[in-house]
Amino acid sequence: MPKVGVLTGGGDCPGLNAVIRGVVKSADTKYGWDVIGIEDSFQGLILPGKTRSMTPFSIRGILPQGGTILHSSNRANPFEYPTRVDGQTVVQDVSKQVIERFHELELDGLVAIGGDGTNRIASRLFDLGLPVVGVPKTIDNDLRATDVTFGFNSAVTTAMEALDKLHTTAASHHRVMVVEVMGRYTGWIALESGIAGGADVILIPEIPFQIAAVCRKIARRAERGSTFSIVVVAEGAHPEGGEVSVVAHGGRGKGMERLGGIGNKVGEQIAETTGMDVRVTVLGHIQRGGSPTAFDRILATRFGCKAMSLVTRGEFGRMVCLRGREVTSVPIKEAISDYKWVPLDSGLILTAEAIGICMGR
Ligand code: F6P
Repeated sequence: MPKVGVLTGGGDCPGLNAVIRGVVKSADTKYGWDVIGIEDSFQGLILPGKTRSMTPFSIRGILPQGGTILHSSNRANPFEYPTRVDGQTVVQDVSKQVIERFHELELDGLVAIGGDGTNRIASRLFDLGLPVVGVPKTIDNDLRATDVTFGFNSAVTTAMEALDKLHTTAASHHRVMVVEVMGRYTGWIALESGIAGGADVILIPEIPFQIAAVCRKIARRAERGSTFSIVVVAEGAHPEGGEVSVVAHGGRGKGMERLGGIGNKVGEQIAETTGMDVRVTVLGHIQRGGSPTAFDRILATRFGCKAMSLVTRGEFGRMVCLRGREVTSVPIKEAISDYKWVPLDSGLILTAEAIGICMGR
């Protein structure tokens, strides 16, 4: 029987297991292929003993589970792999080793489920001859090639539920609650959760904010009798003429920044200017955890089945994506070429402003 490998790379997100299940079940039911699970992202093709056979029986019950049963890593780049040599850590290119291991396992194709980092690696391995298909994953929804990534809807739902809960303390104590959400350099999670969760202010990276506009909005609400406000801040948001807030460099792999801290900065400035009682909540990795929503389970299942269909047809070097209501595919190279920002003329921004949400301007 032909054999396909499957791995998950980068940060986890709800729906990864649903994709794995889509691959394994359609491989078994529709195509008659065997599936080999590769653990810890590409590390499973670098180190020994990190592969296992996957069958519909062995994956039973994973559909509602968050995380990934294959585990993940954002430090498993075969082109820049940290190795210990003579007591020192040196970065080596082990991509040839990965391709050799792939052939040793007698695989006929590989499904790599991950974000931009994983798909970038997949694209380079494809150039070296590895038959790979990519599946886009990220709660940030920032991949241009696909209208939506699975995991995003679950993250938005988690953030929305947090906003619902924070409303009660905000209203009871006449407070301003500032909530920092994820999204990296884009504002999709902040914008959608903010609208769904009834925020009064939403700050996104695409619209550098003026703190004066934010404070004016909060003061106006207070004058009209609403003595509390909910402010949603995307982790990548920044003031006009200012920089993004970075907690550390190298958080998600070499050369990458770990964003965070803008919620506290915004909270301090609101407290100073308005004199109101302010509390800040950083939702953090809670947004990446838990069971996927129905939307994400369905999208992830469709992505898994589509990836398997591309593998069986030999359509490698492509990434699965959603265009409108259609699951289709694009060359991986095209998919990783750019971020998907919230367009400034987006209907979501227009809707937010039409109902009086301050976007920081
Ligand atoms: O890309 C997903 C994401 O959760 C971002 O929203 C966030 O900036 C980043 O990953 C956090 O990464 P790490 O797992 O390194 O903390």
